[in-house]
Amino acid sequence: MSRGLAIIGCGKMGRLIEQLAPECGFDVRAKFTRADNLHVAGITSESLRGVDVALEFTSPDAAPDNLRRLASLGINAICGTTGWFEHLPSIREATSAAGTALVYSPNFSIGVNVFFQTVARAASFFAKYPEYEAWGWEIHHSTKKDAPSGTLKKLAEEIRASGYGRTLTLTANRAGAHPGTHEIGFDSAGDTITLRHTARSREGFARGALQAARWVAGKRGVFEFREILGELA
Ligand SMILES: NC(=O)c1ccc[n+]([C@@H]2O[C@H](COP(=O)([O-])OP(=O)(O)OC[C@H]3O[C@@H](n4cnc5c(N)ncnc54)[C@H](OP(=O)(O)O)[C@@H]3O)[C@@H](O)[C@H]2O)c1
Repeated sequence: MSRGLAIIGCGKMGRLIEQLAPECGFDVRAKFTRADNLHVAGITSESLRGVDVALEFTSPDAAPDNLRRLASLGINAICGTTGWFEHLPSIREATSAAGTALVYSPNFSIGVNVFFQTVARAASFFAKYPEYEAWGWEIHHSTKKDAPSGTLKKLAEEIRASGYGRTLTLTANRAGAHPGTHEIGFDSAGDTITLRHTARSREGFARGALQAARWVAGKRGVFEFREILGELA
C-alpha cells in the first residue's frame, strides 16, 4: 500500500518529487506553496490528513518554521532546503520534544555523499603536507538563493574535520540552469589534484530524498542523510 506524502514547496524540487513519488511507493496527499502557507498557516492536522511523511524543499527563511510545525503535528520530515542550518539546535529540540524524526542534508544525491567521504579522506592525507594548498568551488543555476552552496560548506566542514587546518578559499558562480557542480582541489608547486562532482539533473536529489522518506517510517531523532546511507539499499 502507498504511503501518504506531503510536499512543502512546489518549486523545481517539489514538482520533480511529485512526479517520482508514485514509482517510489508514495501517494501525494498534500502540497503547500508559499502563497497557501503564509506564516505556516497552511500546515495543519486537517491539511495533513492521511500524510505519513513530509518532504520540505522551500527556502532558508521558511524551512525552520515549517519543520517546527511538522514536528508539533507528529509528522516525520525530510528536509532538503539549504541555508538554514544555524537553526539546527532548536530544530533538534523541537523534534526530540515531539518524538518525531527528521532527515536533513544539503544534498540528497548518493554520489555526493560518497564524494564527501572521498574529499575527507584526501584532506586527511594533504593535512600532513604543508606544500599543498586547497580550494573549493561550485556553480549552480542563477535562481539558487544561497551562495556558497550548503554542499560546498559541508565539504569545507569535512576538510576541516579531517585535520586540514590551512587556508581554504571557497568561491561560487551562478549562471544559467546548471543543476550543480562542486570541485575541491589541492595544489602544490609540483602538481594539482582536482576532485569534482557534477550533477546531471535534479533527479538524483529527488530520488535520494524519497529513499530517505521510506527509511524514516517509525524512526525518532535527527539524522543527516549520510548517516543513513548504509541502511537505504
Ligand atoms: N538537498 C538537496 O539535495 C537539494 C537539491 C536541490 C535543491 N536543494 C535546496 O532545496 C530548496 C528548494 O530548491 P528548488 O530548486 O526547488 O527551489 P525553488 O524552485 O525556488 O522552489 C522553492 C519553492 O518553495 C516555495 N516556498 C517558499 N516558502 C514556502 C513556504 N513557507 N511554504 C511552502 N512553499 C514555500 C517557493 O515559493 P515562491 O516561489 O512563491 O517563493 C518555491 O516554489 C533550496 O534551498 C535549494 O538550495 C536541495
